[in-house]
Amino acid sequence: MIIDVVTLFPSMFLGVVGESILNRAQEGGQVKINLVNLRDYSKDKHKKVDAPPYGGGPGMVIMAEPVFDAVEDLRKNGREESFLVLLTPGGVRFDQTLAQELSKQKGLILLCGHYEGFDERVSQGLSPLEVSIGDYVLTGGEIPAMVLLDSVTRLLPGVLGSKESLLEESFSSGSLEYPQFTRPQEVRGLKVPEVLVSGDHAKVAEWREEKSKERTEERRPDLAAKKKKSNKQFRQL
Ligand code: 6GU
Repeated sequence: MIIDVVTLFPSMFLGVVGESILNRAQEGGQVKINLVNLRDYSKDKHKKVDAPPYGGGPGMVIMAEPVFDAVEDLRKNGREESFLVLLTPGGVRFDQTLAQELSKQKGLILLCGHYEGFDERVSQGLSPLEVSIGDYVLTGGEIPAMVLLDSVTRLLPGVLGSKESLLEESFSSGSLEYPQFTRPQEVRGLKVPEVLVSGDHAKVAEWREEKSKERTEERRPDLAAKKKKSNKQFRQL
């Protein structure tokens, strides 16, 4: 999959795409991440891409024309079928289901807003899917785009090993992870639960499932309710 990221701050991505799984997936050829500097599409001699809002008010708005030109340029270069996503706090909430859907696309073009966002005509003219990562204020769409890059790339075929994929699957089904422990068996008086060192694999599995359920009900009653509902539907089939 090719993922193009259109941003005013391409260097913000360098650390994130250069390490860990995102780096491995690029090396392995499962994903190509292409950073596009929106400033390269400025019509202005000072490379400006923003202007004050019509009607007044604080801040600056990103002009539509450079965004149209950047996307048009990508479309002409093998991205005819790439799915367009605009990161904005006013978008639909990003979740694992949306990540799965995006991972099935031929390619993605991510548009990162900044300042007071894009001229509305970007949305009118390009009809991107507008996506938010949650109900809090961020300075721009760059960090949300990184979140999306990471979660989508993990889902591409061949990026995770089969064991990792299975684990991922069991948790994308809507429960929180069970607690993990490693060496040594005691740290500052805190001991590893006995069952985990018992060697009884069935008991370990049972304990983990119980802890996972307990945690989900306690910390994420919304997820627990959703899961109960989907289990019920499943039983009725
Ligand atoms: Cl996608 N953009 C900005 N600026 N803030 C956000 C967001 C996006 N999602 C949550 N907060």
